[in-house]
Amino acid sequence: MANEKIEQLRGEILGACNAAADMTALEAVRVAALGKKGSVTGLMKDLSALPPEERKAFGQQVNTLRDEVTAALDAKKAALGDAELDAKLAKERIDISLPVRPEAKGSIHPISQTMDEIAAIFGQMGFEIADGPDIEDDFHNFTALNFPPGHPAREMHDTFFLPENEKGERYLLRTHTSPVQIRTMMSQKPPIRVIIPGRTYRCDYDMTHTPMFHQVELLVIDTETNMSHLRGCLQEFVRTYFGVDDLTTRFRPSFFPFTEPSAEMDIGCSRKGGELKIGNHGDWLEILGCGMVHPNVIKACGLDPNIYQGFAAGMGIERIAMLKYGIPDLRTFFESDLRWLRHYGFAALDVPSVTGGLSR
Ligand code: DAH
Repeated sequence: MANEKIEQLRGEILGACNAAADMTALEAVRVAALGKKGSVTGLMKDLSALPPEERKAFGQQVNTLRDEVTAALDAKKAALGDAELDAKLAKERIDISLPVRPEAKGSIHPISQTMDEIAAIFGQMGFEIADGPDIEDDFHNFTALNFPPGHPAREMHDTFFLPENEKGERYLLRTHTSPVQIRTMMSQKPPIRVIIPGRTYRCDYDMTHTPMFHQVELLVIDTETNMSHLRGCLQEFVRTYFGVDDLTTRFRPSFFPFTEPSAEMDIGCSRKGGELKIGNHGDWLEILGCGMVHPNVIKACGLDPNIYQGFAAGMGIERIAMLKYGIPDLRTFFESDLRWLRHYGFAALDVPSVTGGLSR
């Protein structure tokens, strides 16, 4: 009688186990058989009702049944687990042999390309790259560059000031890359030969001004550096950059607080028929500001102006990119218009170098 009951239960449980379609159903089978109130667990309670001579054999049969059920549950669980994993892998399958979509192709922004070209040309002449923070203090952006307090040139920069902090200091967004001249002279020993490309900020917006734009600064500090070195460097730069071997340059006297004497450099061009062409065609185009570093600036950096002298120059990167690549409106540089980026962008592997070629 007892035997029959066990046999019947075995058939039922193993059948249910086999039929379980997922982990939840299988767990229900386990609880129904081996749980506290499960059918197999319940058999043990029958034990006490049996005559003592039958108890041992019955107990062994129940234990065997429990082992069998446990093994069947484990096997089914493993099989279901494999099936679930297979289903998940099948669902998440990615065909890595598919070609990438053509839209995924990126390009180098003309500003990055121009900076790379500038670095390649000055790198060839022995210049290193220096940089500094976009958020500056008054000392580096103005005072150390020989802008006296209240000097009108400070106002001309249309500075973005940050709110005053607890210490009463007012930081600002640097209005030019010149403060990195100060940082470089205060942290490196001459001879110094650096270019400083980077972002600059002024509160201005129209066809030819954006509140954020880029400049590159040039700085050479040594003991016997003069204005003809400055002219030679800049001339070599514009000739290589614009790809015009005999491009003429012209220096006009100018004023910057941090240079003495100061000059603006023009390059030859033509404006015939409203079209701007770089080359020796009789007309002139202003391209950058430059000069010999003012002794006050050298002094402010803790160097002796009787020993050290040098030259500096500053140039707008957007401006020279527009001139070289025929980009008419400055504001379009920062609109992230995909069609513009595709049109004016450069191939990622087209790395500019003086020997390998710049671009177009
Ligand atoms: N910092 C000047 C500006 O933003 C540009 C400049 C002019 C930099 C002459 C120089 C320089 O280093 O010598 O307008």
